[in-house]
Amino acid sequence: MDTNLDLSEPRYVAQSKRPGNAEKACRQTRRVYDLLAPLYPVSSLMFHSRAHRAALSASHIQNGSRVLEVATGSGEMLKRVARLNPDGQTIGVDLSPNMAARSQAGARKRLPRTRIHCHAADVRYLPFHSATFDTVVCCYLFELLPQGELARSFAELTRVLRPGGNLTVILVGQNKSSFNAMYSVCTAVAPAFWGRQVANQVMELLQGHGYSVDKDYYVQQIHYSSRVVSATLGRPHRSR
Ligand SMILES: C[S@@+](CC[C@H](N)C(=O)[O-])C[C@H]1O[C@@H](n2cnc3c(N)ncnc32)[C@H](O)[C@@H]1O
Repeated sequence: MDTNLDLSEPRYVAQSKRPGNAEKACRQTRRVYDLLAPLYPVSSLMFHSRAHRAALSASHIQNGSRVLEVATGSGEMLKRVARLNPDGQTIGVDLSPNMAARSQAGARKRLPRTRIHCHAADVRYLPFHSATFDTVVCCYLFELLPQGELARSFAELTRVLRPGGNLTVILVGQNKSSFNAMYSVCTAVAPAFWGRQVANQVMELLQGHGYSVDKDYYVQQIHYSSRVVSATLGRPHRSR
């Protein structure tokens, strides 16, 4: 772990002076989630809590390990993860500084003796050395990434996971036509909040990066469909 990181100060890494479309989209997403941070726990409870529980049991987090959650939102999953890992290190990042600050404050309040750090960072530029984490958890993030940034973001998540480590993701399900139709309306109305469904693309990226999928199932909450996927990163082949 990079011990020079100042984990107490939320940081936003991706700052360019002449932003292209992807940068503009990310800034818009950050603004929206910064604004919604105080209200977000309600949405997370209504739509995500059942899938969070399923993902947690699929991830097989070991106490004493290094776990990273990317895109913590307001920190509901981070608290669950940290509870399973009281003797390890639980790190969270979110693009929105308000979300990151909320996640850290909430988790530290509930679990004062557990090592939890949370700060603002963009999934495309994770401030960690390669192969740092035993487990990476990422819930409902890929939908919000600009199309051209999906592959790069996935590669970055994979870079920080150690070979043989576990990646657990929750994706917005694409398995029901009525839900898909409803979601495409949400996409059209508020793209920076809902994003768009990309589960099938993410499954292709998993396979392309040498993961083996251990669990893959759907969870329904109200009419909202989530796809929970837990996968192991293959060890690189040794050349003789
Ligand atoms: C739909 S919310 C999901 C929050 C939480 N994971 C949950 O399960 O409820 C998506 C989160 O992703 C964050 N996010 C969006 N783009 C990001 C990026 N490029 N890097 C890191 N986080 C990002 C947003 O700020 C927001 O908090």
